[in-house]
Amino acid sequence: SFIGLDLGTSSLKAILIDDDQNILAEHHVPLQVQRPHDGWAEQCPSTWEAAVRQALGALAAKADCSGLKGIGLSGHMHGACLVGADDQPVYPCMLWNDTRSADEAAEMDADPRFRAISGNIVFPGFTAPKVEWLRRNKPEVFEKATKILLPKDYLRLFLTGEYVSEMSDAAGTAWFDTAARDWSDTLLAACHLNRSQMPRLVEGSAISGQLRPKLAADLGLPVVPVAGGAGDNAAAAIGVGVVEDGSAFLSLGTSGVLFAATSGYRPAPETAVHSFCHAVPDTWHQMGVILAASDALEWLARLTGQTAAELTADLGALQAPSRTLFLPYLGGERTPHNNAQMRGQFLHLDHATNATEAARAVLQGVSFAFADNQLALAQTGTTLKRALVLGGGSKSAHWVEMLATTLGVTLDLPKAGDFGAALGAARLGMMAGTGAGREVVTPPPIARSTEPVEALRDAMADGHARYRAAYDALRSL
Ligand code: XUL
Repeated sequence: SFIGLDLGTSSLKAILIDDDQNILAEHHVPLQVQRPHDGWAEQCPSTWEAAVRQALGALAAKADCSGLKGIGLSGHMHGACLVGADDQPVYPCMLWNDTRSADEAAEMDADPRFRAISGNIVFPGFTAPKVEWLRRNKPEVFEKATKILLPKDYLRLFLTGEYVSEMSDAAGTAWFDTAARDWSDTLLAACHLNRSQMPRLVEGSAISGQLRPKLAADLGLPVVPVAGGAGDNAAAAIGVGVVEDGSAFLSLGTSGVLFAATSGYRPAPETAVHSFCHAVPDTWHQMGVILAASDALEWLARLTGQTAAELTADLGALQAPSRTLFLPYLGGERTPHNNAQMRGQFLHLDHATNATEAARAVLQGVSFAFADNQLALAQTGTTLKRALVLGGGSKSAHWVEMLATTLGVTLDLPKAGDFGAALGAARLGMMAGTGAGREVVTPPPIARSTEPVEALRDAMADGHARYRAAYDALRSL
């Protein structure tokens, strides 16, 4: 059997699969995000250790793990975890949606070497500007750091005692040569850093280390190899079989992602599309990222005191977008705007706007944000006809139909809910543990395929045009 661990923003998920990839056990441990200031988002890595101990212990209690042959890791990307000589964090992990380092990011992005070598805009959420922010603002903390790790690689250090990263997550740091699949000494030097502060690199499907014998004994697990693993988006793609050129998924998680696998490296940083390595050798991927997808609905749920499910229960049949517009930029936006200062907007409210109508506008606003991402991908030459739809938001059939109609693509909902990134991690654990290749990366059985509602396509396009005009009108304010 194989274990997949996915360090998500809101929970750590662990699954155990057998050699035929049947799910034998799963366990979730909820996690919190601290937001001490506007634009900041942090987690304390010690809470991840407690969560991973609890999750692995729970799997071992629920199923017989004596035949375990490999573990794979996935995690939220771009976080900066700096550890000292004792391997303990010197500062909370600054997360992917933390935009405090917007100024540092803009400075780096103005240096043409970053886009040329990394293939991407230096977004404020990426690792390099956050580390630079720490160097400038908390030099006494920065000085104590001996290694800079990504979130799931911090978990790997805890599990194996090794400093290792892999290509898909390293590509989101802004220190990476994405064509060469290696750290860039030039970009590290531009940030006053060098290779000795970085973990060594393996492919996601290769062995990165072995579970520490003492920890294995504590948890009741055998000592097994731990795979390189992947950033959560590449891991989700491995979990749903998205590796062949042109195959795609749309994820309605905390953040929103429109992801397409590519057989070659096709950077187009000017579009704000992310071009990263995939988790298996010689493959890459492109994605548009919106910072608040399900998170926008969760925000409205907190505001109204209703749950997301209650807010979306009375939406009825899909209809033309209302005049009420919502721009989901609660924490700024990546694709296509690269704007950390923008904030969320509600426009055209009237006396009849109640919580349900506000929820409709939120779902539509996020759908328009995905339409912007689709346009950005199209500028790089990537066009989609169909995509898998994943993430917590895909439970809403209404939202999925709204998205299919707004984007004009068929959306396929997998049968087995939310195993995405954890299953991808387990598959990478299987490859590392057995030497299996990408034949184990198969697509899931589909529960439902949702076609666009043709009669509403024009109305959605008009709504999308108004949404774009609203952004243009408001950004100067
Ligand atoms: C991708 C990104 C997010 C995180 C969240 O670039 O920032 O999707 O990986 O999990």
